[in-house]
Amino acid sequence: MKRPIRKAVFPVAGLGTRFLPATKAIPKEMLTIVDRPVIQLAVDEAREAGIEHFIFVTGRNKGTIEDHFDKQYELEDTLRRRGKLKELEALTRELPQAGQTSFTRQQEPLGLGHAVWCARELVGNEPFALLLPDMFIHATPGCLKQMMEVYQETQSNIIAVEEVPWEDVHRYGVVAKGAQMGNAFEITGMVEKPKREAAPSNLIISGRYILQPEIFPEIAAQEPGAGGEIQLTDAMIRLMGSKPFHGLKFQGQTYDCGDKLGFLAANVASGLAHPELGAKFRQLLDGMLKG
Ligand code: G1P
Repeated sequence: MKRPIRKAVFPVAGLGTRFLPATKAIPKEMLTIVDRPVIQLAVDEAREAGIEHFIFVTGRNKGTIEDHFDKQYELEDTLRRRGKLKELEALTRELPQAGQTSFTRQQEPLGLGHAVWCARELVGNEPFALLLPDMFIHATPGCLKQMMEVYQETQSNIIAVEEVPWEDVHRYGVVAKGAQMGNAFEITGMVEKPKREAAPSNLIISGRYILQPEIFPEIAAQEPGAGGEIQLTDAMIRLMGSKPFHGLKFQGQTYDCGDKLGFLAANVASGLAHPELGAKFRQLLDGMLKG
């Protein structure tokens, strides 16, 4: 039986200490790439891939994320009265409908695996997508949509992967590559934040997953791993014993917005690609670089 992917989980409980003081009162996921909050970009990608229910695993001080996905009557009214109908139309078009969002709190920062586990009741017994909003992926079609195509074929667990320079593999989860199957390949092993010498490849986990619900009991049984945290990768390794995992080297460009350089690069790339600002921004940048 083919089981559709209807729900997506967004872990957004992280403190964002790398962006202090910006993140003292604002969640890091609300920092913007040009004019769109990082979390909105991940939701855009999920919606494009057909997701109907958006589950946010939040923490303290993350209230503005919930506000962001709510209706703003006063703002809509003001826009209407001022005749700013284009802005109004964009806001209403993007707003998830009532009942399409759920929020739950992680309560304690025990790791990514634990954050995903916090969504277990909201996900229920069906496969789901998982998007780490820090990883902004610029791709057409979006990365999750590319993964959905593989899912149609395999009905398995799917992980988006990309090659990084070998000196960076220790910052990520890394997969071991087995047989190629069309666009995708079998994953035969995984390791979280390995030393360069211990990494099975330089193909890293890019923060996009399609997972079967059997991951939840594996996480529940999980002892803390790398960094003393409950690691999702460790639970996936256990699940790999009974359920296949496939990797997809997606087409697109990733910006790790959990990191200041990546965040700046995402803003420059999106500024340059912006339909209205792009040309002027390029001129401005050229001038700055020459000066
Ligand atoms: C997490 C995952 C890791 C993945 C990375 C992508 O690590 O554990 O496997 O490669 O996200 O951003 P984190 O960035 O939370 O340390």
